[in-house]
Amino acid sequence: MGNEQVTTPSQQTEGLQSVRWASDHLEMLDQRLLPEEIVYLQLRTPEEVWEGIRHLKVRGAPAIGISAAFGVYLAIQHARGNTAELREAVEKACSYLATSRPTAVNLFWALDRMKGKAASLAQDAGLEAESFKQAMLQEAIQIQAEDEETCRLIGEHALTLFKDGMGVLTHCNAGGLATAKYGTALAPFYLAQEKGMPLKVFADETRPVLQGARLTAFELQQAGVDVTLICDNMAGMVMSKGWIQAVIVGTDRVAANGDVANKIGTYSVAVLAKAHGIPFYVACPMSTIDLNTPTGKEIPIEERHEDEITVGFGKRTAPVGVKVYNPAFDVTPHEYVTAIITEKGIVYPSYQENLPKLFS
Ligand code: MRU
Repeated sequence: MGNEQVTTPSQQTEGLQSVRWASDHLEMLDQRLLPEEIVYLQLRTPEEVWEGIRHLKVRGAPAIGISAAFGVYLAIQHARGNTAELREAVEKACSYLATSRPTAVNLFWALDRMKGKAASLAQDAGLEAESFKQAMLQEAIQIQAEDEETCRLIGEHALTLFKDGMGVLTHCNAGGLATAKYGTALAPFYLAQEKGMPLKVFADETRPVLQGARLTAFELQQAGVDVTLICDNMAGMVMSKGWIQAVIVGTDRVAANGDVANKIGTYSVAVLAKAHGIPFYVACPMSTIDLNTPTGKEIPIEERHEDEITVGFGKRTAPVGVKVYNPAFDVTPHEYVTAIITEKGIVYPSYQENLPKLFS
């Protein structure tokens, strides 16, 4: 296994973290291997972080941003030069890491924050190179710590929308594995669990990469939350049975008009929810709201390799040479979104009017 550190699910899984800083390198939980194996990869270069993001070893909007922030520090950790040269290296690393994935705006938000920190540090003419580096590392650590606090607040707000015994459906994984801790859409389930409030969670398996089955069902089950796994095409059926009183999902980017990009299949769930009169909630940190993108049409949607559909997990399930379309995300128009839950509170339509107020 080289420099990898391995544990197994039979050992303690509590406290799993998508990424964690380990004195001189980044440890990244390889989420492609979950739920079967728990493997932390030891990353020492921005190239390794880029690769980890691109190939879904780490995934989920906030976790991608946190990883990239540490990737920026890794780019300068052993660099020589004065603070102006280090700032240049930071800028270069940010441009490079920004090419890892296109949709989640948290990636660009975190990189902008690292660039901003470097710019302000470089203004101090007397600052030693070593102090510059340490301050950049602290910024990445701070981004991660803030995300944990943010997710807890999102969970507290979201929980006010739920009542004892409700059935709540979620899609993809917007949990602790996608963030620093708690998650966004899954945060209220953890807080409900802490308070002894019963909720019944239904997790869509989330084709083609199965974040719902491999990650959401895994982390909720580990925490003792009442979770039932269903295939994506069963969501309508469980709604029609009256088992679902709310849907809550995360998002990779919220446009200024309230359109939301999230894992492919989210739009279908939103349409089903509307057809059944079920509220459809979106939970996200403020760093996912992109007021510079006017509508969902301008959100860049990542397309991934056809193998995810035709030979997912090593088994060929489609004929060789068949045409494949594999967008990783879709856009749910704002008309389907009942409310957006952030760390600052719950936002209702009109999003065009109310989202900017969050930032004022
Ligand atoms: O392709 P992924 O696994 O990175 O997609 C993740 C999602 O779509 C999540 O729902 C989103 O990033 C929100 S995570 C809090």
